Amino acid sequence: MNRDPYRELRVGFTAAVSHELRTPLARLLALIEGASLPGGDPAGALQQMRAEVELMDELIDDVLFLSELETGREVVSLGSTEAAPLLREIVSELDERSERAGVELEVEIEDESLELPLRARMLRIVVQNLAENALRHAGEGATCVLGLRRENGTRILSVRDDGTGVAEEDLPRLFERFYRADRARASRGSGLGLAIVKHVVEAAGGQVEALGAPAEGLEIRAAFPQE
Ligand SMILES: Nc1ncnc2c1ncn2[C@@H]1O[C@H](COP(=O)(O)OP(=O)(O)OP(=O)(O)O)[C@@H](O)[C@H]1O
Ligand SMILES: [Mg+2]
Repeated sequence: MNRDPYRELRVGFTAAVSHELRTPLARLLALIEGASLPGGDPAGALQQMRAEVELMDELIDDVLFLSELETGREVVSLGSTEAAPLLREIVSELDERSERAGVELEVEIEDESLELPLRARMLRIVVQNLAENALRHAGEGATCVLGLRRENGTRILSVRDDGTGVAEEDLPRLFERFYRADRARASRGSGLGLAIVKHVVEAAGGQVEALGAPAEGLEIRAAFPQE
């Protein structure tokens, strides 16, 4: 029996986080050294240093999230968040990355006041993971729509794209830890994102599913019961 269901998640995550913390730290050190040389550009360096520190801050956020998972307290579902503004905020934050990836991000909001039973930070983790997946995996030229609607009272958060999609047999496995459908394409990523999404959504009383077909795109749908 698996007495600690988050062990695998935690071990992989911790390793990835430690590894990724080294990168901004090394760049920070190089920036500090460069700025203190004669003829350096301290003002420009400061700006880049800020970006590196922000990156580390995000990683530390992930570590904190992990320790919350570990304690198993009601940290996930505690609270309720108006989803529309958060969706728009995330799309605008990802603007630059979306341009670089050649994947367009859009929102489709049917109900502006719809609230989802998650703390804002947890909802952000869900939406960010799904949007970032589209940027990373859907392929250039794809469009990704972040949608919010009700279906017979059920609250639906859906992130769908019209990109590369995955094979039908992969759909139910996408939420497994470390599962990556496009290993052959050597995309970066640890295969933990959707496992985290599933964990968070289910802890908040919702359900996730993956729909789609190869070359038609992927839709990840989180359904939350009526308030
Ligand atoms: N929008 C998408 N289009 C095509 N394939 C996708 C999409 N989203 C996810 N996938 C597939 O599902 C796999 C699992 O996604 P998941 O988010 O769990 O991991 P990841 O993105 O590879 O890594 P990370 O842990 O950084 O999120 C991906 O490796 C990819 O093969
Ligand atoms: Mg991912």
